[in-house]
Amino acid sequence: MQSVLKQLQEKREAAKLGGGLKRIEAHRKKGKLTARERLEVLLDPGSFEEWDMFVEHRCQDFGMDKTKIPGDGVITGYGKIEGRLVFVFSQDFTVFGGSLSETNALKIGKIMDKAMQVGAPIIGLNDSGGARIQEGVDSLAGYADVFQRNVLASGVVPQISVIMGPCAGGAVYSPAMTDFIFMVKDSSYMFVTGPDVVKTVTHETVTHEELGGALPHTTKSGVADLAFENDVETLLELRRFFEFLPLSNREAPPLKTTPDSPDRKTVSLDTLIPQSSSKGYDMKDLIHKVVDEGNFFELQPEFAANIIIGFGRMNGETVGFVANQPLVLAGCLDIDSSRKAARFVRFCDCFHIPLVTFVDVPGFLPGTVQEHGGIIKHGAKLLFAYAEATVPKVTIITRKAYGGAYDVMSSKHLRGDVNFAWPSAEIAVMGPKGAVEIIFRNQLDNRREVETYTEEYRQKFANPVVAASRGYIDDVIMPHETRTSICKSLQMLKNKKLENPWKKHDNIPL
Ligand code: HXC
Repeated sequence: MQSVLKQLQEKREAAKLGGGLKRIEAHRKKGKLTARERLEVLLDPGSFEEWDMFVEHRCQDFGMDKTKIPGDGVITGYGKIEGRLVFVFSQDFTVFGGSLSETNALKIGKIMDKAMQVGAPIIGLNDSGGARIQEGVDSLAGYADVFQRNVLASGVVPQISVIMGPCAGGAVYSPAMTDFIFMVKDSSYMFVTGPDVVKTVTHETVTHEELGGALPHTTKSGVADLAFENDVETLLELRRFFEFLPLSNREAPPLKTTPDSPDRKTVSLDTLIPQSSSKGYDMKDLIHKVVDEGNFFELQPEFAANIIIGFGRMNGETVGFVANQPLVLAGCLDIDSSRKAARFVRFCDCFHIPLVTFVDVPGFLPGTVQEHGGIIKHGAKLLFAYAEATVPKVTIITRKAYGGAYDVMSSKHLRGDVNFAWPSAEIAVMGPKGAVEIIFRNQLDNRREVETYTEEYRQKFANPVVAASRGYIDDVIMPHETRTSICKSLQMLKNKKLENPWKKHDNIPL
């Protein structure tokens, strides 16, 4: 008995040391925490329960039979964040470069299966040189086993990937299928083919960072949601983010008591909209002013900034916010913003998170780049996502709601539950000037006529009256009442039941 315990204790110690002190030191020199330290920052103190610490790889080739490290380079188990259950894996770069072995995949699969059964999110801390090269196809099979579980877990439990080192080749596809990706600036990268292959095939010279660092993925590709300065900041922000999420699709989003009254009026909102309809204003001001305690967790702030997405709370309840941003591209919808918001809307719908949409949209962005890039299909994604969503949907039109974009942005016609407009709302097929140029194309002789007709169109449509008279707008509210109106609506919608017709699954325009 004593000798068994001693043997296991030795293995425990070996597992804790990972690839050994020398490699840990080299790892730290890169400014990175070890795989275990990362879990300590992420999870509540003392809450981590580790599984499979004694698992070793089974590879016999290339001298691997002599290099076995208990745990085999990935730490798996469960713990708590602010007292709420979460399953985790953390790849240890000091063990064979964090490469994924057959047994790594079995360990990761085990916690993923349990997370789905008990209904708790999965967080993966990725820091890996990819497939364990010595194992060949067994490692590839392991990846596919993880991919398959990512797909089955999608929409069942939230899945979050944190990229804290290399993540290359086919390995990127597991994070890609999770719901959110956070990256660490300067020390993490993701790409399908690395700089050497790029150089050979396309003759481009590019660094790891330029090709797949946090910067390109949070500004250009939109692959990652957020990037932070270092490991600690990333993990602490992830803890803050986690608090907004439900544990699974079987339960409601968490409630957090707030001293912020749902009846709080925000008078400064009455002057948010500029006099000139062509002038921008910051839609984030509005979100920050209505949300509980001004606490808004924005996602993808640097990518497709013409649309804003993120989580906040209204009277304690998690809400997903989607808002056009008039300061960027006048708030137009384009390919990137449609993709960005569509995926977010679908996440919220999977996990019973109500949607609040602020609308100030002059339409879809025109041009060959957009048309040839497939704005028809990409714009349809957002339309589809809103239309299929059955969660409570509250929409507020602050100013422009023009053309197809009016329909798309959670309009009454796509089963918007409560649709408000501010008095400044303009709901029309297009702006007055463009409308007049088309309606009176062959009749406009002089500028005065143009001005008269433009004014006539403005009088008719540059306000919410017609839409309200049709019932497309449930009420016209003063800006300062926005928080109260949203809170009351969400309260009323709490027990909303709406089901789509039975189907195997839909066929969203991908
Ligand atoms: C086994 C690996 C490994 C791997 C790194 N190591 N990657 N061992 N399999 N994939 C080992 C190294 O041999 C080294 O061991 C230690 O990890 C640290 O690696 P270094 O190269 O010293 O570190 P660094 O200079 O920081 O470079 C990191 C790296 C590089 C850029 C990740 O190691 C690298 O290019 N590795 C190979 C990447 C790769 O080609 N992977 C396969 C991709 S294909 P010692 O003993 O010296 O400490 C793929 C397919 C997935 O992943 C498909 C899924 C469908």
